[in-house]
Amino acid sequence: MSTPTKTVTIDRLAFRGEGVGRVDQKVVFVPYAVPGDVLKIKILEKHKTFDRGEICEILTPSEFRVKARCEYFEKCGGCQWQNIAYEEQTKAKEEIFRQTLIRVAKISEPKILPMIPAANPWNYRQRIQLKVDFSSKPKVGFYAPESHEIVPIEKCDIADSKINETLQALLKKGQIPTRAFEISVFEDGNVHVMPMDHVDRYFSQAHPEQNHQMVQAVLNFVFGRADPVFKMRKNILELYAGSGNFTFPLAEHAGRVIAVEENEKAVKVGELLTEENQISNIEWISGTSEWGTKKVLRKKVPIDTVVLDPPRAGASDVLDLIMVLKPKNIVYVSCDPNTLARDLKELTKRFYRFDYAQPIDMFPQTYHIESVTKLSLA
Ligand SMILES: C[S@@+](CC[C@H](N)C(=O)[O-])C[C@H]1O[C@@H](n2cnc3c(N)ncnc32)[C@H](O)[C@@H]1O
Repeated sequence: MSTPTKTVTIDRLAFRGEGVGRVDQKVVFVPYAVPGDVLKIKILEKHKTFDRGEICEILTPSEFRVKARCEYFEKCGGCQWQNIAYEEQTKAKEEIFRQTLIRVAKISEPKILPMIPAANPWNYRQRIQLKVDFSSKPKVGFYAPESHEIVPIEKCDIADSKINETLQALLKKGQIPTRAFEISVFEDGNVHVMPMDHVDRYFSQAHPEQNHQMVQAVLNFVFGRADPVFKMRKNILELYAGSGNFTFPLAEHAGRVIAVEENEKAVKVGELLTEENQISNIEWISGTSEWGTKKVLRKKVPIDTVVLDPPRAGASDVLDLIMVLKPKNIVYVSCDPNTLARDLKELTKRFYRFDYAQPIDMFPQTYHIESVTKLSLA
């Protein structure tokens, strides 16, 4: 018996990228649906509080629906929103961000600055990781959504054009690495091809121009319009510092920056740059944020501001220690609104007040949301 279809109007987008509507009062998530679409859908999964459906037919397309640029869209798991006008993507991210802070962090009316859109929402990624399958006809590509099935690709529309040129040259010459590999553009503009098991690098931000905007947001939130003399005295503890993306710009204005990072290679790069540029107000600590913060507490270093930029899992391991350190301000950079909101809930329950947040579109065409949040001692 074939599954009956239902008609649904899509009201909004959800964090994982799916469109959201209601069928018989029950919430239904529909991948690749656009707010404003009227759709005929098939329910594929039934849960207690929601269902998940699949588009059978677009009865009335949304005014925000656009033709996806990439031929692999919906097959490859990389982008979820290529079929949504870019301005609408950024509006949706801002709203999802706001609703997450309200719902999870319990901040009733969060002050959220308008999302900073990307001037170039295409060809921005500086590296891609490709999967390889040589079991029959060689396949090079990305995994399909929620699967380990490889979707063969010849280009990626969100990757830097140099990456695409390199991939096409490898495919043409039949010089495909025999195992998963990465193609990346380095800061000097050179392109590198490396098997994944040889990749020994540290984190770097995906979108260089948007990263610049984010660094500016961090500087504004840390130093604000404070008296320049006071600015010079600020002591900053920076957790999850990487190789110094924020550390060096912060050190230009701060009294002292203590940068903590777990990846030894990133710390080595940071230390080298500090030495080469004869910077005397940065101290690197190689270790976990927890360990670094304990060290700062033990030494009784007075800290004005903690800047933190944890991975997607958030910073729950170090929140209690930050609250013992009690800096006047916290500037929290996040790539996941849910773990950010969970951590903000803890911080605002006790000592801190949420001041404002700045979302930045670091990952156009995808649902991912980057943000910088400022808190101060209540
Ligand atoms: C999102 S990245 C940010 C890096 C840097 N702020 C930047 O903008 O390039 C998170 C960083 O945290 C580091 N990291 C992960 N877990 C950590 C931990 N428990 N303690 C310290 N650093 C950690 C990772 O190695 C990575 O460099």
